[in-house]
Amino acid sequence: MDRIGQMQHTIERLTRPGRGILAADESYPTITKRLSDFGIESTEETRRFYRSLLATTPGIGDYVGGIIFFEETLGQRTDSGQLIPAACEAQDIVPGIKVDKGAVELAGSDGEKVTQGLDNLGDRLDGYVEQGALFTKWRNLYQITPALPSRQALEANAEVLARYAAIAQSRGMVPIVEPEVLMDGDHDLDRCAAVTEAAQASLFEALRRHRVLLEAIILKPNMVLPGKGQPRPSVETCAEATLQVLRRTVPAAVPSINFLSGGQTSEEATAHLNAINQAEGAKPWVLSFSFSRALQNPVQAAWAGVAENADAAQQAFLQRAKLNSLAREGRYSASMETDNA
Ligand code: 13P
Repeated sequence: MDRIGQMQHTIERLTRPGRGILAADESYPTITKRLSDFGIESTEETRRFYRSLLATTPGIGDYVGGIIFFEETLGQRTDSGQLIPAACEAQDIVPGIKVDKGAVELAGSDGEKVTQGLDNLGDRLDGYVEQGALFTKWRNLYQITPALPSRQALEANAEVLARYAAIAQSRGMVPIVEPEVLMDGDHDLDRCAAVTEAAQASLFEALRRHRVLLEAIILKPNMVLPGKGQPRPSVETCAEATLQVLRRTVPAAVPSINFLSGGQTSEEATAHLNAINQAEGAKPWVLSFSFSRALQNPVQAAWAGVAENADAAQQAFLQRAKLNSLAREGRYSASMETDNA
């Protein structure tokens, strides 16, 4: 298969009906923080055990079409000795890899960030392909204040995200492009909408500049929500605001939009995804999930680092993934949280 055929095939697998993507690609500091919230120490062995538990959950391939991993995981094995990417493929789940190297201060800005990781990226991708990864992720982040993000930050971040996407596609890997507008701050819904629109508009301009094939990317945006701690409008209002921004900025050529959860509770993220899929009006893309925290919090709580809890943790994962699978089709209702518990 040629490079474009390979990417089309990967997109088809990632966007099959009822499926979303699990982000299990936390860097060392982030996974350490997530696990410690549940009293679990982050070691090479606990990370291996935990991430293979996710990949080998029986039946999870019905709801999860792809899993994004961190570099370390691609070389780790399940308890039965199978490499974790191969264990994913055995469940028809596409293995992916986070390739950015995190955010650093954007020199010359007022404390804003830019994501790094372009140096030697092509060579690194060649290695990940050998390890079985078929798609990639890169995350930018944008902080909202009354004055920010600046044009400098919008343009610098769009440029690196587009360059990353072009390099990934040159290797036949599908790039997930993630321009995350953070929920921190006390801004309202309209301000989040305006910033999200600006971030995505500059991103799509840069993708065009770098001749990225839009049919072979996945967009991973934030949902449009007010700042953390601010009063929340109804899920329907947030869904409408999110769709309005997407319609204004994302060409219909893009096959799939897979949202991040961004610090919402599991239930909130599922309810918002459901409302987005239930809303009226033009929606020319698949609208699904690529959650990390909203999928994994219940799993980590059930596991708590105790090997005997592994089955319960897998059940929690299956249940949460199933509810999000329903939400991705607009068929979820809040009563299912207790019905199926
Ligand atoms: P959250 O769903 O926890 O926001 O994480 C998504 C992600 O992968 C961030 O890069």
